[in-house]
Amino acid sequence: MKMTCKSALKRTVAATAIATFGASALSAAEITYVSGAVGNAIEDFKTIVAPWEEATGHTVTLVPMPASTTDQFGQYRLWLAAGNGDIDLYQTDVIWAPQLADHFVDLSDVAGELMESHFPSIVESQTVDGRLVALPLFTDAPALYYRKDLLEKHNQPVPTTWEQLTEVAQAVQDAERAEGNADIWGFVWQGNAYEGLTCDALEWVKSSGGGQIIEPDGTISINNPNAIAAIELAATWPGTISPEGVVSYQEEEARGVWQTGNAVFMRNWPYAYGLGNSDDSAVKGLFEVTTLPTGQGHDTSAATLGGWNVGVSKYGDNQEAAISLAMYLAGPEAQKTRSLIASNLPTIVDLYEDEDIAREQPIIPQWKDVFLQAVPRPSAPTKQDYNEVSTLFFSAVHSVLTGDESAADALADLEMDLEDLLE
Ligand code: GLC
Repeated sequence: MKMTCKSALKRTVAATAIATFGASALSAAEITYVSGAVGNAIEDFKTIVAPWEEATGHTVTLVPMPASTTDQFGQYRLWLAAGNGDIDLYQTDVIWAPQLADHFVDLSDVAGELMESHFPSIVESQTVDGRLVALPLFTDAPALYYRKDLLEKHNQPVPTTWEQLTEVAQAVQDAERAEGNADIWGFVWQGNAYEGLTCDALEWVKSSGGGQIIEPDGTISINNPNAIAAIELAATWPGTISPEGVVSYQEEEARGVWQTGNAVFMRNWPYAYGLGNSDDSAVKGLFEVTTLPTGQGHDTSAATLGGWNVGVSKYGDNQEAAISLAMYLAGPEAQKTRSLIASNLPTIVDLYEDEDIAREQPIIPQWKDVFLQAVPRPSAPTKQDYNEVSTLFFSAVHSVLTGDESAADALADLEMDLEDLLE
């Protein structure tokens, strides 16, 4: 009896899926999807796509990419330039649309109605010359994670400026070490020479009144006293409140230190929220999130806008099924599952009112305004050159963090390099 009910249900689900996702559901395809694999991304992806696989009869293989967004971009560009037919869908960073647009199918007709439920600014970021080149999966805006228990224990405030963060991190680190907590560090973040450092450093600079590297009108603004001061302050962290090795940390290295209980503060994206509260986390229930600090004397905090999308390759062999999968992944069911299991911020407006999400992952409704005010990296004004611009920026900042150059010299050189590149 049970069996009959279950298979009847399956048939209904499949019929709905065929109606929703198109007739390609009738012949099974094997879809290849490439994506970064930060946190639990691989396992989570399996959970998210399972209902679509079940409903359509298609199967999806996820091919994991390097954790570094910068390395991932390099790999994608090679495959796309070669017209690789083996990959059907690419998970793409919010900054890549202008550079990869030519290789992806225009989804504006098929997704037009679905996109009405998404934040218009995100849809806009994936629209290049009127073509919708990728569908939003989730958006990203970082938080300052802090150990509530340790701040309370040592009578320290939640810092609101970078200067105060530096002091509080040092004070708690010193006090904890004096009590024998030898592995504790004050602050972990992303100091490796890659796209993540562009995000972190843009936050220091922008929140200190130093602009956003290249302004929306194309003006190169990075060489200014506020930006120099912000990067100089950050360069005092490695070896004091942060491990020396922070200059090779990406998101996952920072989370590793944090989640084993060895950091007072961490800068990271919302994905670290759910993982930090998982059963095997040493900091479960011990932490809170707040907005990133500002520079002293400045009152606007800055969070870099991140986020991921899915583009359908022009060269893939299973385009119809691939489009159906992209639509499913950008739709309300998949976005809700992703929010619940991975604490990723949805791009569908109504999900910020969803009670299950608010209960399971309170950071999501709490972070709506942070993401709506997040600062974009200068990919719109620099278009095809964005990757090179970002590489010049993070390399300059990295050389200051490692003590190879002063911030004043590094930013003066960077300004000249950017002028050469963009002239
Ligand atoms: C996160 C963001 C992405 C950013 C990357 C940098 O994945 O969502 O936009 O480029 O971090 O490491």
